[in-house]
Amino acid sequence: FIPPSAGGAGGGVVAKDALGNDIVVSEYVKTHLAGDRSLSQGLKGDPTYLVVKEDLSIESYGINAICTHLGCVVPWNPAENKFMCPCHGSQYDSTGKVVRGPAPLSLALAHAEVTDDKVSLTPWTEEDFRTGEDPWWA
Ligand code: FES
Repeated sequence: FIPPSAGGAGGGVVAKDALGNDIVVSEYVKTHLAGDRSLSQGLKGDPTYLVVKEDLSIESYGINAICTHLGCVVPWNPAENKFMCPCHGSQYDSTGKVVRGPAPLSLALAHAEVTDDKVSLTPWTEEDFRTGEDPWWA
C-alpha cells in the first residue's frame, strides 16, 4: 500500500517560497526577471525551480533541483546558463537536461500552471520533452 502524497488531492501543490508562503506570480515577477530560475517548494516538498520566460510569464514546467547522482540540491548558474552541481560536478542545461556526468539522468520535471496568480505544480507523467523518453521519475 502506498499512501497518497502529502500534496493532497490529485497530487498537486501550490508552489511556496522559502518561508512557506504561496508564491504570488504578479509579485514574484517584479523581482524575478526574464530567464530567472529560482527555487520554490514543490511536490513532496522537493526544491523546484520555477522558470520565468522572456514575457515574464511562468514556464509551463518546473525543474526539480535534486541532483540525479547523489541528491545534492543543484544551483542555477546564470553566467554558464546551466545548473551545476557542487558535489561532484554534474551539469544540466537550462531545461534540466543532463549534459555532464556523473549524474545519470536529467532533472525531474513537474507541470507548472498559473491559476489565480499562484503556481500549481502537478506530477509530470508524460514523455520527457528533453529526451523523448518516458519520465524516469514517474
Ligand atoms: Fe550532484 Fe554528485 S550529487 S554530481
